Amino acid sequence: MDKIRVIGGRPLSGSVKISGAKNAALPAMAASLLTRDRIELENVPYVRDILTMRNLLEDMGSEVEVTEDGSAVLQSSNIRSQEAPYELVKTMRASILVLGPLLGRFCHARVSLPGGCAIGARPVNLHLMGLEKMGAKCRILHGYVEASVEKLQGAHIVMDTITVTGTENMMMAATLAEGETVLENAACEPEVSDLADMLRSMGARIEGDGGRTIRVRGVEELHGCRHHIIPDRIEAGTFAIAAAITRGDVEVENCNPKHLSSVLEQLSRTGADIESGTNRFRVQCDGPILSKNVTTYPYPAFPTDMQAQYMALMTQGDGDSIITETIFENRFMHALELIRMGADIAVEGRQALVKGNSPLSGARVLASDLRASASLILAALIASGETWIDRVYHLDRGYHRIEEKLARLGANIERVR
Ligand code: EPZ
Repeated sequence: MDKIRVIGGRPLSGSVKISGAKNAALPAMAASLLTRDRIELENVPYVRDILTMRNLLEDMGSEVEVTEDGSAVLQSSNIRSQEAPYELVKTMRASILVLGPLLGRFCHARVSLPGGCAIGARPVNLHLMGLEKMGAKCRILHGYVEASVEKLQGAHIVMDTITVTGTENMMMAATLAEGETVLENAACEPEVSDLADMLRSMGARIEGDGGRTIRVRGVEELHGCRHHIIPDRIEAGTFAIAAAITRGDVEVENCNPKHLSSVLEQLSRTGADIESGTNRFRVQCDGPILSKNVTTYPYPAFPTDMQAQYMALMTQGDGDSIITETIFENRFMHALELIRMGADIAVEGRQALVKGNSPLSGARVLASDLRASASLILAALIASGETWIDRVYHLDRGYHRIEEKLARLGANIERVR
């Protein structure tokens, strides 16, 4: 079990290149099930979740090759099973993304229910509601979703909660349905638009992605494509906060600042100097960090996936701040570990009151989920003394060699096997 060791106290400086977006690459890989042709993806991040999706697709009969240089080649011409087994799904909830494509192309699927995770119950009822509207019969048996349909039919679907993977599942299923599907109250995260771009290059007819109403006109079949995955806005935001919290000066490259404008705006409110270009931005912070409240909402507002990282920053603010988490019901696990490092945080339901001016000291801490582990690293970068972070496999799910990228920026950080 790897651990990460950090000695805090060094301001970060230099430049860092952002990897491809995990949450765009996962649906893109699932979309390869929609055609028997070859799919080529570029800028795929070499992280654990991507390898889990590879294993899941291979288990069904796909040929998948993922290389560390960011390319992936997938071909699903010999699918022998439409089942996503519990052993694989339990390690990654995003496995539910194979449900829509399997139903669209094979009209049958048996997918293990993802189950909850550290941050919440993570239900998939809206995924099933949408597919049932399209004519699928879905039943839950022995912890699996068993879904089948003669042929998916276009439908008018209103999602009563904004769901990212729910929108992606519906969109993929609708590309091969008969007739038109209208998705209302759809998620408009950049990863949804990136998937729509890929599906269009496969011959799908999709409009309105990036907004709240998406229209899909079903086609007979889809063909192969080559698609470049967008940069990871959450990794970019994580490095932006790393620069601010260490009072550093960091150039973040290979990213799209527009995809994290709410994060950069919030950071400038806390006193950081942000200068943005088209595929890069620079964060400088040499003055006080101002305590500012934030509430997480669906895109384009402040993302839940940046909440834990922001909490670490607010422990160093000049006063009190309130962080409100409206997306997941249990996404403050990192607060308990930050408190062990000297933070003063009171969690009350969906709100956390964070007192600033809290000098942090190094400690042995536990990662609980992907973004919580990032917030512990950010805290360790400014804590006095040595911090050991355990269970870094959570971190490896969504960040590729983050300790090497931080070390190149001057951090005293290493992975201990
Ligand atoms: C996606 O998860 C991301 N994962 C998450 O990133 C991200 O935190 C989340 O969107 C919110 O932005 C991927 O894209 C692979 P939701 P998803 O469905 O789609 C409720 C990370 O760190 N809901 O948008 O699972 C749900 O309980 C991960 O990479 C239902 O009630 O999230 C939640 O409260 C963590 N019924 C809210 O909607 C459903 O059928 C938003 O969830 C589906 C969701």
